[in-house]
Amino acid sequence: MLKIGNIILDIPFFQASLSGYSDYAMRVIARDFGAPLTFAGVMLAKSVVHPRVFNGSSFKPGDDEHPIGAQLLGEDPEIMAKAAKVVWKAGYDLIDLNFACPAPKVLRRKRGGFLLNHPDKVMEIYNAVRESVDCPVTMKLRTGFENKSYDNFWDIASRAAAGKVDALIVHPRSVWQRFTGSADWQFLSEVKKRFPHTIIFGSGDLFSVDVIKTNIKNTGVDGAVIARGAIGNPWIFSQLRKGNDFLPPALDEQGRVILKHFNLLCKLYGDEKAVTHFRKFAICYCKLHPLRRKAQKAIFAAKTADEFLAVVKQWYSL
Ligand SMILES: Cc1cc2nc3c(=O)[nH]c(=O)nc-3n(C[C@H](O)[C@H](O)[C@H](O)COP(=O)(O)O)c2cc1C
Repeated sequence: MLKIGNIILDIPFFQASLSGYSDYAMRVIARDFGAPLTFAGVMLAKSVVHPRVFNGSSFKPGDDEHPIGAQLLGEDPEIMAKAAKVVWKAGYDLIDLNFACPAPKVLRRKRGGFLLNHPDKVMEIYNAVRESVDCPVTMKLRTGFENKSYDNFWDIASRAAAGKVDALIVHPRSVWQRFTGSADWQFLSEVKKRFPHTIIFGSGDLFSVDVIKTNIKNTGVDGAVIARGAIGNPWIFSQLRKGNDFLPPALDEQGRVILKHFNLLCKLYGDEKAVTHFRKFAICYCKLHPLRRKAQKAIFAAKTADEFLAVVKQWYSL
């Protein structure tokens, strides 16, 4: 059991913020399989504070998905604080501040990972958000902006720990690295050693239960965040609950989950958009299919919801 502020996790894992992926549909499926906490994709604070944008969007959490975290992106402490209040009032249980995003357009606007080179600004944002809400506040960090330059990380982490941040979520790659190379889990050992009283979650290259458990054991971090490893593979959460990797789920079980995911997308976006939106998930779901490429090709060829249903029934023996 692990606590992030007042949120109790019965297993020390949760589903990451994944923009473009972790919408209501993905979150429901992750929760079905045992994720004790899920996150919506990152939200731009500047958009969240506009009631018309917030209310008209898919930002709002469902009543059936608590606890749920909101992640905010922005560079202005006042707007971040206002946005935090909006999402908290809308029902989010936890607020994570994104100081990690490496996307060029985000960096150009001095947000996300850019702020790792500006610890004072990070702390201004954190303090403003902290004051505006009465729920746990966490930070998502990378190791630094440039490769192997860790000073700002340590500065931010120690000030955040002193400011009682509820958890640090650390993806041990630099912003420069984006997704290249491998996540440096050794770095996370050092983080936990230096901040034994702060809850530390590790993120990066977590695709199997064995690797996740070994990384936690070797580094002493409190928990791990499942990101790409959960896309098209919600079974990872039930495996984490059971504690071991297992044989791929039976084909018909895979098919039923795909159909549930697809039906949720249809409700969110309408049938037509759901067919194309599902394709990026299909790439991952199909990795578990014995005829991966052929199954994926067949799903990609479906143009309507009816065709999609027929293809899934055919390829997954339903
Ligand atoms: C498609 C995609 C979307 C992501 N969106 C977010 C996001 O909105 N906020 C965030 O903090 N990290 C985001 N990440 C980073 C992940 O949360 C995670 O830290 C990273 O993928 C490393 O973990 P992994 O190697 O296990 O996937 C995203 C990653 C991917 C691949």
